Amino acid sequence: MSFPITRLRRLRSNETLRNMVRETSLSVNDLIYPLFVCPGQNVKKEINSMPGNFQMSLDHFVEECKQVRDLGIPAVILFGIPEKKDLLGSDSYVENGIIQKAIRAVKEKVPDLFIITDVCLCEYTSHGHCGVIKNNDVHNDKTLTLLAKQALSHVQAGADMVAPSDMMDGRVAEIRKVLDENNFTNLPIMAYSAKYASAFYGPFREAAESAPQFGDRRSYQMDPANGDEAMREIELDIQEGADIIMVKPALSYLDIIYRAKTTFNIPVAAYNVSGEFSMIQAAARNGWVDGQKIMNEVLLSIKRAGADIILTYFAKDVAKILKK
Ligand code: PBG
Repeated sequence: MSFPITRLRRLRSNETLRNMVRETSLSVNDLIYPLFVCPGQNVKKEINSMPGNFQMSLDHFVEECKQVRDLGIPAVILFGIPEKKDLLGSDSYVENGIIQKAIRAVKEKVPDLFIITDVCLCEYTSHGHCGVIKNNDVHNDKTLTLLAKQALSHVQAGADMVAPSDMMDGRVAEIRKVLDENNFTNLPIMAYSAKYASAFYGPFREAAESAPQFGDRRSYQMDPANGDEAMREIELDIQEGADIIMVKPALSYLDIIYRAKTTFNIPVAAYNVSGEFSMIQAAARNGWVDGQKIMNEVLLSIKRAGADIILTYFAKDVAKILKK
């Protein structure tokens, strides 16, 4: 059937109809809000390139978590800025590390907020790389032990889910094994499976103080040119025991999100990363675009591509709009 019998504009002709036939919508239930925790007291330092996002000491962090929960956002993912950094990132797996303390503090005051932790060494190593350095490169297998230790210590402190973001081969299996050996068989893993070596992480590295001090991350994060390889990464992570897989960044990788969702029967998360957030904020502040509309369009596109879950610095803004 074609024109003039068929006229697609009919279903666009009024608001009620448009609402009825809308195929994709955002829900607060799909959102994960990233937060940065730092040492000290009464610290709430705005991240220059990420307006509205802060490095927060525990006191402010717990208050923030209450607000997040009151807005209906179900989950946060935590990044820590440690007291000290060293070659092995040892502050990431100590009982009184910044993240371990943060988890206990929030679980005491906001017990129903779902706590996810980013499992990676880059915020904790003096060289800023995501693992142990050998011969000027990150040594895969030596790093696995430390990642599993870090994941276990997060879980022992009360984390509800761990999210390895390092891109070492075999890390999901190693983390699953150590969690299972310690009776955390029901603790889910959300794997950053297809994580690209992306310039879109720029603002985050200011926020988390995690920029590599030499070289870059291209020997472990993926080449932005590759799509088939992402499917292999995801397949392996699923075999190793990932419960949710993630594509990161989101916007330049919508095709990967789509392929992941159509290829695998598993929940897909997408990370709408710092650079994607900052670009919209910067343009909106200049009056060049309508920030709220762009935010909505961008997040819808990520869902339409196939993401079930979105990690985004816009989570609070979206939740406020959805509440109205
Ligand atoms: C690594 C990690 C990074 C991000 C999340 N986890 C940075 C990196 O790989 O360099 C980036 C998130 C963002 O840009 O919003 N721990």
